Amino acid sequence: MDSFAFIIHPLDPKRDVTRKYPLLGKVLPEPAIHFFSRFWPPLRLSHITGARSEATGKEIEGWLIAVPYTVQRMLALPPREVYRKIVAAGHLAEQLGAKILGLGAYTSIVGDGGVTIARELAIPVTSGDSYTAAVAVRATREAARLMDIELAQATVAVVGATGAIGGVVAQQLALTAGRMLLIGRRRARLEAAGRQVRAVAGGDVLLSTEVGDIREAEVVITVTSAGGNLVRPEYLRCGAVVCDVSRPRDVSRQVAQARDDVLIFDGGLVRVPGVVDFGFDYGPPPELTFGCVAETMALTFEGYFEDFSLGKNLQLAQVEMIDAWATKHGFRLAALRSFEHELDEQVIQQLKTRAYG
Ligand SMILES: NC(=O)c1ccc[n+]([C@@H]2O[C@H](COP(=O)([O-])OP(=O)(O)OC[C@H]3O[C@@H](n4cnc5c(N)ncnc54)[C@H](OP(=O)(O)O)[C@@H]3O)[C@@H](O)[C@H]2O)c1
Repeated sequence: MDSFAFIIHPLDPKRDVTRKYPLLGKVLPEPAIHFFSRFWPPLRLSHITGARSEATGKEIEGWLIAVPYTVQRMLALPPREVYRKIVAAGHLAEQLGAKILGLGAYTSIVGDGGVTIARELAIPVTSGDSYTAAVAVRATREAARLMDIELAQATVAVVGATGAIGGVVAQQLALTAGRMLLIGRRRARLEAAGRQVRAVAGGDVLLSTEVGDIREAEVVITVTSAGGNLVRPEYLRCGAVVCDVSRPRDVSRQVAQARDDVLIFDGGLVRVPGVVDFGFDYGPPPELTFGCVAETMALTFEGYFEDFSLGKNLQLAQVEMIDAWATKHGFRLAALRSFEHELDEQVIQQLKTRAYG
């Protein structure tokens, strides 16, 4: 049976360590988790079963592997040291028999976006970022529709537009948006991202280094590696839709509570074909997964065992290719969710009433 492995790591140190080690998670204070995470070796978390392609009937299996670094630790350590533990996790995947390895969250962000890691492993590697981008765009279009926002008339902001996912998301959305607002930290990279968007879609493209400028936008996708809590409540326009792809989240629960006139939702969740069992609670509800995990699974269904979505400059053609494969094999956009809850019609109606009266 073709198989894959996917690497995850703690995003919320106390919560995520408790999921694997209830006692340790309870007794260790957060600073101690950050400290010890440096010395903890990679470990196999679970065996994934039950995923089945709708197109071919092919069944696949996989493994979740933990690289026990916290975000804070990964950002502080030299990339070389972080690579070493991720590569060790890759070797574990090889021993388990995986034919492809997916890099979750910050394990695909550190350094050169998976290129060095892939070079040091015998099996191919993907960051999963192309399908994450495709799913985020799809979910954003759906959210805009639900909030009666006409994308062609709207200002669409991408926070983190100079990043791997943000860059290609901006190119995709620019094809239908009224005007694009790209936000990043570094002016030169922002200008390069702007040139790429104009080359793909033309049109009106504004650039800014101020996250607060999202108050100009009816539609926002935030996809940064800021490490969480980047967006403040006063930045958001009444009635806006905000797709938060970042993990840890750029938009905190407190912001969502403070702005109950804004549709804030998790970007990147899809339903997996078959009766999947991930064997470990890593965050999403049992039958759903993140776009990056789904990309690794879709490549396995397709039998495409080559590097994919590596580096910081993703191609639109690659996004369209993995989107088509994932759709063919039966991955479907999940209902919009916000902080672990499904956003049903009634919630959306209440939001609209608060926003527009
Ligand atoms: N939900 C999912 O399924 C899923 C899947 C994969 C990844 N992710 C998440 O998506 C996010 C982005 O991933 P990526 O691979 O695109 O990362 P990336 O290539 O490293 O890009 C990150 C972007 O964030 C920007 N940034 C960082 N700190 C910032 C700050 N304080 N203010 C404004 N911008 C800031 C960076 O700007 P500079 O260029 O100036 O550094 C860069 O543009 C991560 O949070 C990751 O965990 C989610």
